[in-house]
Amino acid sequence: MRKQFFITSIISIGLSIVLGKFVSSSYYYLLFFILPFVVLGCYDVIQTKRSILRNFPVLGHLRYIFESISPEIQQYFIERRTDGTPLSRNQRSLIYQRAKGVKDTHPFGTEHNLMEPGYEFLAHSIFPKEHVEAPRIKIGGPHCTKPYEAALLNISAMSFGALSNRAIEALNIGAREGGFYHNTGEGSISSYHLQGGDLVWQIGTGYFGCRTPDGKFDPEKFRDCAAKPEVKMIEIKLSQGAKPGHGGILPADKNTPEIAGIRGLKPYTTVFSPPGHSAFSNVNGLLKFVEQLRALSNGKPIGFKLCVGRRDEFEELCDEMVKTGITPDFISVDGAEGGTGAAPPEFADHMGIPLERGLVFVVDTLFARGLREHIKIICSGKIISGSSMVRFLALGADLCNSARAMMLAIGCIQAQRCNTNNCPTGVATQDPELIKGLDVKDKSVRVTNFQKNTVKAAMEIVGAIGLEHPDDLRRHHVIKNINATESRLFSEIYPYQDMVVKPL
Ligand SMILES: Cc1cc2nc3c(=O)[nH]c(=O)nc-3n(C[C@H](O)[C@H](O)[C@H](O)COP(=O)(O)O)c2cc1C
Ligand code: SF4
Repeated sequence: MRKQFFITSIISIGLSIVLGKFVSSSYYYLLFFILPFVVLGCYDVIQTKRSILRNFPVLGHLRYIFESISPEIQQYFIERRTDGTPLSRNQRSLIYQRAKGVKDTHPFGTEHNLMEPGYEFLAHSIFPKEHVEAPRIKIGGPHCTKPYEAALLNISAMSFGALSNRAIEALNIGAREGGFYHNTGEGSISSYHLQGGDLVWQIGTGYFGCRTPDGKFDPEKFRDCAAKPEVKMIEIKLSQGAKPGHGGILPADKNTPEIAGIRGLKPYTTVFSPPGHSAFSNVNGLLKFVEQLRALSNGKPIGFKLCVGRRDEFEELCDEMVKTGITPDFISVDGAEGGTGAAPPEFADHMGIPLERGLVFVVDTLFARGLREHIKIICSGKIISGSSMVRFLALGADLCNSARAMMLAIGCIQAQRCNTNNCPTGVATQDPELIKGLDVKDKSVRVTNFQKNTVKAAMEIVGAIGLEHPDDLRRHHVIKNINATESRLFSEIYPYQDMVVKPL
């Protein structure tokens, strides 16, 4: 579109100058305004790519203009407060309010239909507790010599490359000030990640930051990078909910010389991370890799991230843990509803299991094999509020990660152009002109505020349920509408099988 307007303008100006010599000044001004449309119309008729423009020259452009601004039209003029996807206007407002540290109360009562099938409630107590302290969660099983004490809510994996340098810096400083961790994403560790916040270094199938020239795992490079004091834990990425089994895409325009240097790539080329790891190809290989990384990192907690897909494979993996005695220190379960910078729609819409079911499956499978005690479970998938945290903690998670809420905290407006390099807020782009709009100092405060206020809200809910510690949350504390007249406890929908769970 921009190209067409550019060509049209050049031709029009040229013609105006030439014709200006032969016509009077009033005709000249008329020509100046009409000519561009005449030229554009001719171009539309001649071009062969767009039938609408060939059939409706000039006028047809309105369709493309409106299409390109339809998310904004939807958001500003049409959307109701409970509408909007992936996050509704109410959800986005809550994140902005908590991030800015302004009033986050809601007037006049709920706007939701509480009888709607699928709607969920948390069960409060007649004897609520006051002042529930947010605990730190110790991550590190029997083979880990450097356990880490994590916060209840942290920044989920998003790479420098998918996000801008300023966005990464703001997230890291926010994590430093708030005392929670920042997951690097699979794009390796940049200087923007090293602002003093605790890091979880993620290793994807591209092994960025610990890669041989032909893209294989390089143990020496891994050892050097894992030794950084900021790196508190290491996460092997098996899959993410938005595109499980697909691998990653770094578009050429986002692969700047700086990013290429950090990752060990050729600049301005589109880079595909393969869908699977070359360092292992079966469950035993994965566990051996966990063991290798633990040794190379001198005992730091090692875990893996996955969106649950084939259950038989995960069960086989857990059986292998029992057989070999090798266990990860943590497992991050991502829901199919999770976000991404770019994913094929088939994968985003139809691959992988949503967090609620995936999490229950992982928790129950570990419990059934006596593995739950030493493996901490981290969850992610639209965790944006205290109630969403409590819901997943009640289902069995130990702590939560959030990606898109953190993006909103640093200014994302859900324009959904993350895959175009045209992010208007400078969050998900490598265009310096757009990045300069993001003020690191201001946005880092918002990251700290959002995490602090959301955890505070979660602890207030834990108290309202009558508990003194989030560890005491159980499935029967959450209720879900099954249909218009029936609701069930989560413990009825997902019964505790033969697990040893203290009933509360
Ligand atoms: C822009 C963006 C980039 C992401 N990059 C990664 C990544 O490098 N590695 C990864 O495991 N997940 C990545 N994710 C997925 C998130 O870490 C997270 O698992 C998912 O978005 C679910 O959390 P949310 O619903 O809070 O966004 C990315 C998500 C977004 C939105
Ligand atoms: S503002 Fe839009 S393009 Fe930028 S990060 Fe948010 S959703 Fe993506």
